[in-house]
Amino acid sequence: KRIVALISGSGSNLQAIMDQCNQGIINGKVVGVISNRDDAFGLKRAEMAGIPGYFISHRDYTSRESFDQALMRQIDACEPDLVVLAGFMRILSPEFVRHYAGRLFNIHPSLLPRYKGLNTHQRVLEAGDPEHGCTVHFVTEELDGGPLVIQARTAVLTSDDSASLQGRMHTLEHQIYPLAVSWFCAERLKLTEEGVLLDDTLL
Ligand code: GRF
Repeated sequence: KRIVALISGSGSNLQAIMDQCNQGIINGKVVGVISNRDDAFGLKRAEMAGIPGYFISHRDYTSRESFDQALMRQIDACEPDLVVLAGFMRILSPEFVRHYAGRLFNIHPSLLPRYKGLNTHQRVLEAGDPEHGCTVHFVTEELDGGPLVIQARTAVLTSDDSASLQGRMHTLEHQIYPLAVSWFCAERLKLTEEGVLLDDTLL
């Protein structure tokens, strides 16, 4: 299967997915990486892996819709089966989300539906939650609100701060994101009218 990744930063989740493609654990290949920031380290990771990287700046467009159109043109030129948002820090328009319905994943650093949006680690600490986690989900028009695919959780320790939680979250993300991608690429996972199906079991 052909995978396109959208990033804005470090791209460590992208790296985890590329690694598992190379190892044959994911039956797929990352065929393009698109960043809205030219200084994103993820673009370097793509270059080092010999994968085409594209920089499309949202600043070059006057509206979200026109930026999204440019993104869609570049993504579609890569002919992907799956598009993964991997630390892509822009909100996508309804038209974009509809265009990739059922083949668009995101990873979010919280146990959704709790803590949609930004600064999740800090908010978990402030709420005194006993646990925290991360979620892979299909993207729909509701921000961080699409059907869940997989979650990983970890206990919040009294010694934790935002940085330690973020570090632990990354380790978990690098496990569950490639796993979800591997299921999708093996055609074990799909989004239907009834919800998310994994091997014919409704999640
Ligand atoms: C991750 O924490 C992810 O949950 C969030 O953005 C971060 C991306 O990290 N959506 P990286 O660029 O993959 O290292």
